[in-house]
Amino acid sequence: MPALPRVVVITGASAGIGRATALRLARDGAAIVACARRRDRLDALAAEIAAAGGRALPVVADVTCENDMERLVAGAIARFGRLDVMMCNAGFGIAGAIDDVPPLQMRKLVDVNYVGTYYAVRAALPIFRRQGQGHVIVISSIVGKRGVPYMGAYAATKFAQAGLAECLRSELVGSDIHVTVVFPVSTETEFAGVMARESGKATEARGPRQHAGAVADAIARAIARPVPEVYPYRKARGLVLLNAIAPGFCDRFVNKFGRKPLVGP
Ligand SMILES: NC(=O)c1ccc[n+]([C@@H]2O[C@H](COP(=O)([O-])OP(=O)(O)OC[C@H]3O[C@@H](n4cnc5c(N)ncnc54)[C@H](OP(=O)(O)O)[C@@H]3O)[C@@H](O)[C@H]2O)c1
Repeated sequence: MPALPRVVVITGASAGIGRATALRLARDGAAIVACARRRDRLDALAAEIAAAGGRALPVVADVTCENDMERLVAGAIARFGRLDVMMCNAGFGIAGAIDDVPPLQMRKLVDVNYVGTYYAVRAALPIFRRQGQGHVIVISSIVGKRGVPYMGAYAATKFAQAGLAECLRSELVGSDIHVTVVFPVSTETEFAGVMARESGKATEARGPRQHAGAVADAIARAIARPVPEVYPYRKARGLVLLNAIAPGFCDRFVNKFGRKPLVGP
């Protein structure tokens, strides 16, 4: 893997962590293939990158559509001739106790967060295998390592992403195709607004928060020097260790300090 990736596909590039990473990597010289559903946002991002002297290709696509993910990768190859990084980032959350989340909402979460990741990875892998190199970046969440109250439906999809990535990484040992899973804590993006809309209720996150730019910087470092896992908020690793040693104690800890019960509309 070259120190500076040449061509990076990012799903969910119209906002938040995806957008911040697109701008950061474009500044580093990468060509960005920016995927999301909102065309106006993607066009604005591509214009901002171009105005700063960079290269970006906006691609309107839905990660829940297998054909869209194949078209996304084909578009990257047609325009830039290769693919160095596939960043599976598109996602959203729903808050609520497990028996409060309607089955249709659960299916939608699985479709976007997990199946969307699977389709994007599946579209990129043949190119990576042909090139003999590539890098899959999966944006999970700290709740993909340790569940917290009222986030069970969402956390399950984040565990699923991490599981898929872990298996893929062990399949690719010894090759120059890397897999990195990123576990951000609460990050300032459109996420909370989308979650309130999708859940029908507002919820209050507690604990540490970070800027999307800090997550983007951590991703950029992982691309330059591939590592299996990234905790953009470094202290979050402590929660993972605590959970491995004392899961019951951790249950009480996250119950006390984790997300509060939902606030009605
Ligand atoms: N913010 C946090 O606190 C936090 C913490 C840990 C992990 N994460 C993870 O970070 C990732 C990015 O979230 P964010 O915080 O940056 O949220 P965000 O600001 O709401 O951005 C989400 C992005 O995903 C795109 N998206 C959603 N559904 C899509 C679909 N079906 N097809 C294509 N694109 C889709 C959205 O674009 P369009 O609406 O234009 O399609 C948007 O660009 C998610 O996987 C999330 O689970 C977030």
